[in-house]
Amino acid sequence: MSGSRAEKPIGVLFVCLGNICRSPLAKGLFQDLVQERGVAERFDIDSCGTGGWHAGDGADPRTIQIAAFHGLTFEHEARQLDPRRDFERFEYLLAMDLDNKAGLLHAGAPASKVHLMRSFDPALKGETEHRLQVPDPYYGGSEGFEKMYVMLKTACEGFLSHALANQPR
Ligand code: 4NP
Repeated sequence: MSGSRAEKPIGVLFVCLGNICRSPLAKGLFQDLVQERGVAERFDIDSCGTGGWHAGDGADPRTIQIAAFHGLTFEHEARQLDPRRDFERFEYLLAMDLDNKAGLLHAGAPASKVHLMRSFDPALKGETEHRLQVPDPYYGGSEGFEKMYVMLKTACEGFLSHALANQPR
C-alpha cells in the first residue's frame, strides 16, 4: 500500500539497567539491520536504562569493543527511562531481563507494550521467561559480551520480522 512513509514510525525502546552495555548494543544492531533492509524510516529507535547512574556516559568500552570486532560502530549517550514520554512515544518496550521488565511495569508501562527482547528469537519459542533473558554482562568477563552480542543479533532479526508483520497499514 502506498503512503507508508507518512505514517507514524514504529517506536522501539531497548531497555536494560545501566544503558551502557546491553540496550545500546541492541539499538546499534537494530539500527544497522533496518538500514540494511531499507526500512529505517519506518522505525523510531532508542535505548535507555531503568537506572540513572550512568546517564550521560558513553557505552561500556567492552560493548564498543565487541561491536567493533563484528564491524559495528555507533554513537551513544546513556539516559534513564522517562516514563511520562517513553510510554507514549514507543509501541515496543523491549526488556533485556526480568528485572528490567519488572522495572518497566513498576514505572507504569502498559503491559501490552512490554516484552523480553529474546522472546522474539524464533529458536526460543515456548521457552519459559527465565530462559529468555540477556544476562547482565557488566561484572563478568569478555565472554559474557560475546554471548550478549550473539543473543541480541538473533533477537533483533526475529523482532524485525515480527514488527514488520504486525505493522498496521
Ligand atoms: P547494562 O549493564 O544494564 O546492560 O547497561 C549494566 C551496567 C552498569 C551497571 C549494571 C548493569 N551498574 O551497576 O553500574
